[in-house]
Amino acid sequence: MKRIQVAGPSITQKEIDYVADAVTNAWYDNANVYHDRFERAFADYIGVRYAITLPSCTSAIHLSLLALSVGPGDEVVVPDVTWIASAAPITYVGARPVFADIDNLTWCLSAESFEACITPKTKAVIPVDLYGNMPDMDAIRDVAKRYRVAVVEDAAEAIGSEYKGCRAGSFGDAGVFSFHGSKTLTTGEGGMLVTDRDDLYHRALFLRDHGRKPGDRMFFNREVAFKYKMSSMQAALGLAQLERVEELLDYKRKIFAWYEKELADVEGVTMNCEAPGTKNVYWMVTIILDERYGLKKDRLMELMSEQNIDCRPFFHPLSSIPAYEDMEQARRARQRNHVSYKIAPYGLNLPSGLNMTEEKVNRVCNALKCIIENNSAGNKIAGVEKLSHYSS
Ligand SMILES: Cc1ncc(COP(=O)(O)O)c(C=O)c1O
Repeated sequence: MKRIQVAGPSITQKEIDYVADAVTNAWYDNANVYHDRFERAFADYIGVRYAITLPSCTSAIHLSLLALSVGPGDEVVVPDVTWIASAAPITYVGARPVFADIDNLTWCLSAESFEACITPKTKAVIPVDLYGNMPDMDAIRDVAKRYRVAVVEDAAEAIGSEYKGCRAGSFGDAGVFSFHGSKTLTTGEGGMLVTDRDDLYHRALFLRDHGRKPGDRMFFNREVAFKYKMSSMQAALGLAQLERVEELLDYKRKIFAWYEKELADVEGVTMNCEAPGTKNVYWMVTIILDERYGLKKDRLMELMSEQNIDCRPFFHPLSSIPAYEDMEQARRARQRNHVSYKIAPYGLNLPSGLNMTEEKVNRVCNALKCIIENNSAGNKIAGVEKLSHYSS
């Protein structure tokens, strides 16, 4: 049985044609044609004024913090449960990450915990649209406004998600996206920074090209800065994907619906939520298994892997991983963030790539149900044989 991979893109002749055109023609006078088209179309799609193509979402967060003048002595609040890329740029700029708890329902930043983490040093907050779920943006923005804290929305995983009719990425002073190969819209590697603010846009453009103004022909650098650019071939790929975005998002929602049909009634399984007033595009179909099964994510991953099914662990709380565990802020977070520590050990991302079919989803669900059943019966799970009666 072929291994089912956890994530991956949908590439058609359109993407191949655009990239072939870029590699053939996007040089000399045309060097920026695909960047310009991708950025304009992306900004229009998100509903913001500006978009800047970048080599990654990590660099987009880095530039956002720099453009907001976040630096040494400042604190930046970030949810404890996210990929490290949401937080690492806080360290790049010399500031300190403060890990707030997540919400039980959305798995995204809790507005109450965010408020409790604010000190006079808090300069910014980075809410994350985890797995495509949307946080309570009104509540987060209200706290941010009251304490004059800048917002960088990490929408790396959430292209197409919505909150009260506005698209993910449009809620902060800046919004950031990832186009890594695992994402719904990919450029292989890549990212985008979006903003409505003139000052942030111009500062980010300046900082991402070694501290010189866009269009500078004198190679005259005013500051030591960064080289964060995307190639034309990537921009062409991104544009082709964006022109198919509704199709990609519809398919993601279809994949979730297949899973929901199979798993919604399984006792003790919680799936991604779509809170009222939001649209979730389910980048990663995710389950949280009730702790009464005593099946933690690492064991569950192993058992799924024995069935040739690739899964990913729900992110570990950042305050628990070696990269941060010795920090005072991490110690405090470990005491404070009860929801993060309750959910994270039991969460699993199921295969959600754009190559999934209903048949593959059924295979994943059958394997999962069998593992749960064996476990709830208190049986020791012996592997393939025990799963055979569920195999299609
Ligand atoms: C929530 C989140 N933020 C940031 C990133 C960083 O994206 P990139 O790999 O494009 O730098 C990712 C990537 O997986 C992510 O999931």
